Amino acid sequence: MTEKLIETTRELNREQHIEEVAQIMSIRARGAVPMACVRTYGCQQNVADGEKIKGQLEQMGFSFTEDEEEADLILFNTCAVREHAEDRVFGNVGALKNIKHRNPSLLIAVCGCMMEQEHVAEKMKKSFPFVNLVFGTHVIHKLPELLFRTLTDGRRVFERGDDSEDKTIIEGLPIRRDGSFKAWVTVMYGCNNFCTYCIVPYVRGRERSRKPEAILEEVRSLVSAGYRDITLLGQNVNSYGKELTPAISFAELLRQLDEIEGDFQLRFMTSHPKDATRELIDTIAQSRHISHHVHLPFQSGSNRVLKAMNRSYTREKYLDLVAYAKEKIPDLSLTSDIIVGFPGETYEEFCETVSLIKEVEFTSLYTFIYSPRVGTRAAEMPDPIPYEEKSHWLRELLAVQEEIAEKRCSVMVGTVQSVLAEERSPKTGLLAGRSGGNIMVEFAGGDELIGQFCQVRVTAARIWLLNGELV
Ligand code: 5AD
Ligand code: SF4
Repeated sequence: MTEKLIETTRELNREQHIEEVAQIMSIRARGAVPMACVRTYGCQQNVADGEKIKGQLEQMGFSFTEDEEEADLILFNTCAVREHAEDRVFGNVGALKNIKHRNPSLLIAVCGCMMEQEHVAEKMKKSFPFVNLVFGTHVIHKLPELLFRTLTDGRRVFERGDDSEDKTIIEGLPIRRDGSFKAWVTVMYGCNNFCTYCIVPYVRGRERSRKPEAILEEVRSLVSAGYRDITLLGQNVNSYGKELTPAISFAELLRQLDEIEGDFQLRFMTSHPKDATRELIDTIAQSRHISHHVHLPFQSGSNRVLKAMNRSYTREKYLDLVAYAKEKIPDLSLTSDIIVGFPGETYEEFCETVSLIKEVEFTSLYTFIYSPRVGTRAAEMPDPIPYEEKSHWLRELLAVQEEIAEKRCSVMVGTVQSVLAEERSPKTGLLAGRSGGNIMVEFAGGDELIGQFCQVRVTAARIWLLNGELV
C-alpha cells in the first residue's frame, strides 16, 4: 500500500490526505485508535494554533493523551519569544530519545514559532535525528499533507512558510477547543511593528486580518454553543482591519460583536499603546459584553528606552490614554507586560518603569528579563548589565507591584463582582473564577455553577486573590 501512496502523492487533495493518514495510523496503532500528545508552549496565539492542530489531528482519527509513553505521535508547538522557552523545548525534545528507542514507530513532530527561525530548524535537523517532522507557523493548515509525507516518503519532512503563503488566511480549519466555556478567536495574524527586542515579526510574518464576517460568524456560533468568555487574539489587535478592503477599525469590529445577543463576555489581547485610541476606550465604556479589562503593555517607563525599543509612544502619551480610560471606565482593570534590563537600560531608567507602575496601579503584570533573540536589532546592542543585577531589579519591581495588587484587592472588599466560575480549586475545594477585571475569586458553590456567571460579594482580599460569597 505504501508504494501506491507514494505514487499518488501529488494528486491527493486534503480529504484524501486525511483519509490516508487515518488508515496508515490505524495500521500502525494495530487497529486501536492512534493517540497524539500535543504540548503547546508560549502565548495564547500559540494555544489557539494548538487547537487548530488538534482539530486536524482529530479529523485524521487521533485521540489525545497527556502520557508520552502511550502516544503514537508527540507534537511540540513551540515559542521563540524568550530563550528560556526555547531551552525548555530543546530539553524536552531531547528527552524523547529514550521513548523513541523503546517505541521506534513513535512519530515526533516539532512546530511553532521556534521552527520559523532558520538556525533553530537547522539545529533540530542536525542534533535531533529522531524528530520526523518540523514545520512552521505558516503551514499549520497543511498538517494532513505533511503527516502523509512523513508517513510515506521514508524521509524526514521540514517545511517552513514563505511570504506568498503568508498572506493567505485559511478559514474553516477544524478547531478542537481546550475549554467548553472559554474560547480564543484569532482576529489577525502577524505583526508589523518590529519592536527591536522582539522575534515575533520574523516568525509570524506581516499583519493579516481575518474578514469581519468570518469573525462574527465564529463568535455567534461560540455563543450559541454556550461559550461565555471569548478572547479575541492578535499581536496588535488595534491595527486590526487596516489592510482589508473595505478597511474597518478594531473598535468597529468590537461594536459589531457587542451586538450579538447572549450571556457572554468579550476580551481581547494584545493592545499596542501606539494604536489604542480614545474611540476604543469609548467603545468599551458603552458596550454590553466587553469586559472592563485592558491588557496594555507599556514595556518601559523611560522615553529613551521606549525609543530604543521602537515602541512609537512616550510615557506621557501612555499615561494620557490611561487617564482617559480610567475617567470613562471607573472600574477599569489594567494589566501590562514589562521588560526589565533592555540593552543599555540604566538603573535610573528602570526606576522610571517602577514610578509608572505606581502611578497607574495595574491589577497584575507580566514581567520579563530581557532575552536577546538572534536576528533582532536589540541583540546587536551593547548590554553591559549582568543578568544577576537585572534579576535584583526585577525583584524590586515585583515587591512594589505586590503592594499595589494588595491595595487594589482590598478596596474591592464589599463590592459585588460578576465571576465566571471556572473550576474547583484543588487547594481549597472552593469554586474559582475570574472577575470581569481578571482577578481570581474563590467562593463556595455547587458544581452546577461551573461555566456560569455568578454574582459574588467580595468578603476578603489576599494579595492576588479575592474570597467571596454568592449573592
Ligand atoms: N525579551 C524579554 N521579553 C520579551 N518579550 C518579547 N520579546 C522579548 C525579549 N526578547 C515580552 C514583551 C511582550 C511579551 C509577550 O513578551 O513584554 O509584550
Ligand atoms: Fe513583538 Fe512589538 Fe509585535 Fe508585540 S508589537 S509582537 S512586542 S514586535
